[in-house]
Amino acid sequence: MTRRCKTAILISGSGTNLQAFIDRVRSGELGLELSVVFSNKPDAYGLVRAIDAGIPTACIEHGQFPDRESFDRAVASKLDTWQPELLVLAGFMRILSAAFVAHYAGKILNIHPALLPRFPGLDTHQRVLDAGDEWHGSTVHFVTEELDGGPRILQGRLPIIGGETAEQLAARVQRVEHQIYPEAAGWVGEGRVEFRDGLAWIDGAPADEPIVQTYDHDGVLT
Ligand code: GRF
Repeated sequence: MTRRCKTAILISGSGTNLQAFIDRVRSGELGLELSVVFSNKPDAYGLVRAIDAGIPTACIEHGQFPDRESFDRAVASKLDTWQPELLVLAGFMRILSAAFVAHYAGKILNIHPALLPRFPGLDTHQRVLDAGDEWHGSTVHFVTEELDGGPRILQGRLPIIGGETAEQLAARVQRVEHQIYPEAAGWVGEGRVEFRDGLAWIDGAPADEPIVQTYDHDGVLT
């Protein structure tokens, strides 16, 4: 069997994306080893999911540190105990310092609930409804210093249903996230996707555009 890519998953909350990774690894579909789940919040439910799955956990609260840089240094030195080859941000509600991003250059992934470059930042579901867009979705991208601005790898898009609320839309987007995030991370783990010279390289070529998968109203791949 080929060697599995040592992966750290960083969370702050419920961890439904983390659960999707756990389920895919457990069913043997994903060539990642989930080495550690890290949270900046001790009560994050994702820590319970990790413990139930037998994955080591670590938690450092950011409130104990005078600034972002010192917190990030503590996180990096903790994570480095596991020598991670890939960091997966899964609802980790912290902006990362430049030094942290540089320490793991090209090895950090994030998922953002919008079709980037549309709607970086917070409150994306309400904003997309207010804008009257036809499509919404989520984007897996490499993390750079630019918030929600790193090279995009994979987008899952789905049609907006007239009259739905932001909460209903968020739930449908999450169903898509649980499919695209493990898939894209698996591509990085197996070397099909790499970060090189500030770009995402997919199948050996620099990609200006991400791979786009279209899902139906119920979050089923079409
Ligand atoms: C996801 O919707 C993701 O887009 C955003 O944070 C949310 C995390 O949700 N970055 P969960 O904790 O995985 O349920």
